[in-house]
Amino acid sequence: MVSIRKQAVLAVEGGTKTVTGGAPAWPISGAQEVKWMTEVVKSGKWSWLGQHERAFCEEYSRFIGSTYTVGLANGTVTLQCALQAVGVVPGDEVLVPGMTWCATAQAAMDIGANVVFVDIDPETLAIDPASIEKAITRRTKAIIPVHLYGCMCDMDAIMKIARKHKLKVVEDVAHQHGSQWKGKGAGAIGDAGSFSFQQSKVLTCGEGGAVTTNDVDVYKTVFALKQVGWAPKDPKKSWFDNLAPANRYGHNYRLNEMQAVLLRGGLSRLAAQTALREQRATQFRKGLEAIGGPLRVARRDPRITRQAYYALTCYYDPAKSGGVNKHAFAHALAAEGCSMGGPYWPVYRTPLLNLYDRTSPIPFRDLKKMQDYKHLKLPNTERCVEETCLLLGHAHLLGRAAYINQLLAAVRKVSDNLPAVKRAWEKKSKK
Ligand SMILES: Cc1ncc(COP(=O)(O)O)c(C=O)c1O
Repeated sequence: MVSIRKQAVLAVEGGTKTVTGGAPAWPISGAQEVKWMTEVVKSGKWSWLGQHERAFCEEYSRFIGSTYTVGLANGTVTLQCALQAVGVVPGDEVLVPGMTWCATAQAAMDIGANVVFVDIDPETLAIDPASIEKAITRRTKAIIPVHLYGCMCDMDAIMKIARKHKLKVVEDVAHQHGSQWKGKGAGAIGDAGSFSFQQSKVLTCGEGGAVTTNDVDVYKTVFALKQVGWAPKDPKKSWFDNLAPANRYGHNYRLNEMQAVLLRGGLSRLAAQTALREQRATQFRKGLEAIGGPLRVARRDPRITRQAYYALTCYYDPAKSGGVNKHAFAHALAAEGCSMGGPYWPVYRTPLLNLYDRTSPIPFRDLKKMQDYKHLKLPNTERCVEETCLLLGHAHLLGRAAYINQLLAAVRKVSDNLPAVKRAWEKKSKK
């Protein structure tokens, strides 16, 4: 790699931008989907338990290593249905990490559960097992480990706690289709897994979701909840021949045939894309280590045997930053052509939920039994947002090795010029 050390003028101060390439466009589609889509359009069979939906569910189960997959409308109703299927009822407490997309918490709230937020690991942003243990009460019913961005949760520790306290585990795998813990697929380790196929995800059909499980009762209940109360008596047989009322208050959360076609196409490329992203992540990790600046890739647990990346999670170390905050660093990096974003808000502070106010749109419940969201401050959750977490989106990891080297050159240039980064940030802040 060409070294840009010394006197390089940062792009943010009018110098030349380092990165000339760009991340590949996302989403990606292929000729197979176009062919299938045309056939679906002409067939008139557009929805309602079609052949592509069935085929996708079987293919996805094989990919994840779960016995069953149910396709649903998005990755929020998947969580609602999975929580209900494992037995969560109104008033139960569900443990959710303070750092996740708001839908993880909303799904539990919408079925009447009390969400108790717990803290995360400061580097990987995965839910912290020690904080889980501390939060358990006699009302606790379930844990939602969220495999967030580019690091899996410690599933050994979480399953051990769950067994000890007889809790259910619903994995939120919206970010990590295909991650594996000791060879077992995320989504097939707990009682159920919940996936989102929204446009930005590594497996997508625009909008959509799936629940995976190894438990036939969970499978049938999720099926009934998305299929207006009907579920197959024998999951192995044709859905049509053996649907029966399941005595559940089901809705229409169906996936349609066009979505299933896009998912089947995406799934056929996913293993190869994941392998490429892993290679590029390793290249980025090693490159950052060689630079030795404030930015590093979050540690990878050796028990993770395959890591899928919604984003590459990086740790910005304030102790090595010469007083430059991560926002200033990211601002200078973006000017060089390397865009790294920050994580979500702490969920309990998301303005959308406005959790601690009477005007909150969530169904209002017994304040005495709810966690005091207004005064809640989970230190690692807060700190990763304000100080330490930067993320590189997954499409970058599909770029060529030379492109990753350009991104690294940008990081090196910025890391080597921290006083100038600070100057530029102060100038911007004064405007
Ligand atoms: C961690 C997490 N869980 C759940 C969801 C909800 O998925 P959907 O948007 O498909 O409802 C998302 C969406 O981004 C997410 O990031």
